[in-house]
Amino acid sequence: MCNCGLIGTFGRDNAFLDNLSKGEPIVHYDVSVMEDRRPTLAAKVEFLSRPSAYSEPVGEVSRRETHMSWVFLAGDKVFKLKKPVRRAYLDFSALARREVMCRAELRLNRRLAPDVYLDVVPLVQSAQGLSIGGPGEVVDWLVVMRRLEEHWALDRAIEEDRVKASQLDRLVTTLGKFYRHAARPYLSPVAQLNEWHHNIFRDCRFLLDRRLDLPAGLVRTIERVERCFLDKRAGILIERIRDRRIVDGHGDLRPEHIWLTDGIKIIDCLEFNPHFRMVDPFDEIAYLSLECGRLGATWIGDYVRRGVARALHDDPKPELFLFYRCHRAALRARLAIAHLLEPNPRTPEKWRQRTHDYLRIAARDALRLQRLLKTPTVR
Ligand SMILES: Nc1ncnc2c1ncn2[C@@H]1O[C@H](COP(=O)(O)OP(=O)(O)O)[C@@H](O)[C@H]1O
Ligand SMILES: [Mg+2]
Repeated sequence: MCNCGLIGTFGRDNAFLDNLSKGEPIVHYDVSVMEDRRPTLAAKVEFLSRPSAYSEPVGEVSRRETHMSWVFLAGDKVFKLKKPVRRAYLDFSALARREVMCRAELRLNRRLAPDVYLDVVPLVQSAQGLSIGGPGEVVDWLVVMRRLEEHWALDRAIEEDRVKASQLDRLVTTLGKFYRHAARPYLSPVAQLNEWHHNIFRDCRFLLDRRLDLPAGLVRTIERVERCFLDKRAGILIERIRDRRIVDGHGDLRPEHIWLTDGIKIIDCLEFNPHFRMVDPFDEIAYLSLECGRLGATWIGDYVRRGVARALHDDPKPELFLFYRCHRAALRARLAIAHLLEPNPRTPEKWRQRTHDYLRIAARDALRLQRLLKTPTVR
């Protein structure tokens, strides 16, 4: 069988895609897998889906495919295999990079889930075929985790309407402690402001492409208000940087990464690009608030924001929080619609719907922010 991975023939308008992705390659599987006898991603996935792949008896293996990885839930452990993807902002294409990134994932996630991230082990190819560890040639790397019970995942708890304030109090305590002890980078306010401008331009230009058929009026409103915030209130952002409020945070603080177990666990921080982890804690909380709101639990974002503000003795102005959330929502809209540009999008309707959901939230926040920007600042 052809062992050629999935290479970039989109069967669509390549110029259009290039334009949309602004030079970021959209398809990204490791070309080197075409040229040797190393097993394909499909062969690795097939192997890891079998109970016999694991040294301990595991019963059935369930799998989750995400944008960047395959996750195998086997018995009381979880094995995560990174896909050989490459983008402008991340590179898992080479085996050596995947090893480095697996080790970074282990190290960084031990900050918020120390007893979950157990090890990094090689996937090995020998004359007997693939195995986890053992003699042979290393063909990939796996992050090994302790398996958490789905019942405790925040997204599941929201779906089943059983989130308790006491659980969120524990989450707030965990986050407060994490942010208080997190490393604080020195950043250049000018460079950061330029980056905000650039990111707003990038997201909105992408979303405004007519071929995506998205509501241009909403996107323009979002862009105008975000820019207005930068024009009128750049001082707030500069002050956050000067006061050293920016931390080496989690980077992907979403409900599906938060587990409301006895000791709160937060998994899957953003390991692949440290730059994206350098955030204002309230930017992360705005992201969490956005995602909880999208799932129908707006109160959770409000509750956590107030709690973290108390824990950090830091309560930034409402317009900053709205700006962060609006910006996150526009970014998520861009990433959601970008799924449709991939070679065989798995669930196109889901992504289109989600894009509209994010745009609605971004536009609602933009309008609230606009009202606040009309009132003079009290300083
Ligand atoms: N230790 C774990 N226990 C139980 N489920 C897990 C565990 N790790 C990951 N998962 C499940 O797999 C999903 C994807 O894993 P994640 O680490 O978030 O991958 P990715 O980095 O590709 O987003 C998670 O959202 C969760 O549902
Ligand atoms: Mg994840």
